[in-house]
Amino acid sequence: MVSRVIPVDPFDLVIFGGTGDLARRKIIPGLFRRFLSGQLPADSRIIGAARSSMEPAEYKSLLEEAIKEFGGDEKSGADELAAFLNMIDYVAVDAVAGDGWDHLKSLMRDGVVRAFYFSVAPSLFGALADKLHEYAIATSESRIVVEKPFGHDLPTARALNAILAKHFDERQIYRIDHYLGKETVQNLMAIRFGNVLFEPLWNSHYVDHIQVTVAETVGVGGRGSYYDNSGAMRDMVQNHLMQLLCLIAMEPPNKFGADEVRDEKLKVIRALQPVDPHHIVRGQYDAGSEGPSYREDAENARSFTESFIAMKCHINNWRWAGVPFYLRTGKRLRSRSSEIAVVFKDLGHSIFEGDEARHRNILSIRLQPNEGIDLQMTIKEPGPGGMRLIDVPLDMTFADALGADVDDVPDAYERLIMDVIRGNQTLFMRGDEVEAAWEWTDPIIKGWEIRNDVPKLYEAGSAGPEDSMMLMHRDGRKWREIR
Ligand code: BG6
Repeated sequence: MVSRVIPVDPFDLVIFGGTGDLARRKIIPGLFRRFLSGQLPADSRIIGAARSSMEPAEYKSLLEEAIKEFGGDEKSGADELAAFLNMIDYVAVDAVAGDGWDHLKSLMRDGVVRAFYFSVAPSLFGALADKLHEYAIATSESRIVVEKPFGHDLPTARALNAILAKHFDERQIYRIDHYLGKETVQNLMAIRFGNVLFEPLWNSHYVDHIQVTVAETVGVGGRGSYYDNSGAMRDMVQNHLMQLLCLIAMEPPNKFGADEVRDEKLKVIRALQPVDPHHIVRGQYDAGSEGPSYREDAENARSFTESFIAMKCHINNWRWAGVPFYLRTGKRLRSRSSEIAVVFKDLGHSIFEGDEARHRNILSIRLQPNEGIDLQMTIKEPGPGGMRLIDVPLDMTFADALGADVDDVPDAYERLIMDVIRGNQTLFMRGDEVEAAWEWTDPIIKGWEIRNDVPKLYEAGSAGPEDSMMLMHRDGRKWREIR
């Protein structure tokens, strides 16, 4: 019932950083799964490119290991794997010294989609773009894919945009935010704009507040040197959470087109009010039942980097005037659970005598795990004895509603890479969006630096620092439980 697979056009995809972690964990296993689903034409090619010199056969066996380790598909056999590996090639290139580019050029074919995945440090983007241009490997129709972090702040993001703009048009640049590729995130738009039910209520007249939680159980072990220099604000809020916020808050675009959607998201970011420092709680995990402290994980005994953020923000526009948006994300929390909850206002008047409880409709969109939606409704408690009201969820877990096929739904990376080949930029961030997002987060981060802000400690395995609960309590509200 779920997957209707439409094959993409044949392509040459060059992955710079082809031996790296992202390629091995996400890109290659994802492409393999798309191959198994029948979406990749057999005459497509995937060319790994990296500095180490190695034979294509050696590269293929590296990818074979990666597919086994990071999930190809248990149902696949040796023949399918061999057929997939047949599409793979490898070329050693040096972005700075200039070796290997003639070889890469000789491999490129005319008449197929050309895409270049920059799965490398942003400091190499400029050199790669220059070389692709110098050797005429990239054409005016080629696409490039870049990963986050897209900049460290507004000036660095602007500089990266300028570097890419030297040789590529905006319509050729695909900035990945993998949250936009998540099935339920796209469902958010389907729920809002595919049903008559919600949109009339989606405003300050009916919505009390909105909560977005992205809770993780993982710590930063193994990524400490990157993370300690970023923190939750740069790593999660500036991109993933802000993208979710945009999709919840944006006006209906007139169609589901790349610029139509991105124009509306940009308006939301630009309408965000600067955040009052008292409305932000930064936290850092301490050792707890679930593991060591952040400082141990990050191998920095004096670190003041935050691994948790809770904040209240406001969008200055007609639709959302006065409606708080509470965002929360953190590492080493109680469980891995992410949801968006739209909490509607209380009824103005109750006709049921003696019913003092506060009944609220809450639309909850669960991103992970158990993707689905539920709508908290108020009904009569069954049985005799008068009208007593209770709140129950009208629950739709997609796996139950759509059947086992839901497992076959492509993961975020698979979907986004296929969108690159199709030339569909709707689920990618545009340069101006990224800059606007930094423009909003930079003063917040600067404020912490000026004040030498010290994050509140929270126990690993908890729901975050006590102060984050207070942020809500002060407003007479409470966070939904991290289950
Ligand atoms: C990445 C962040 O972008 O997203 C990580 O750099 C984070 O720190 C990850 O763990 C979360 O993604 P997901 O898909 O596991 O929710």
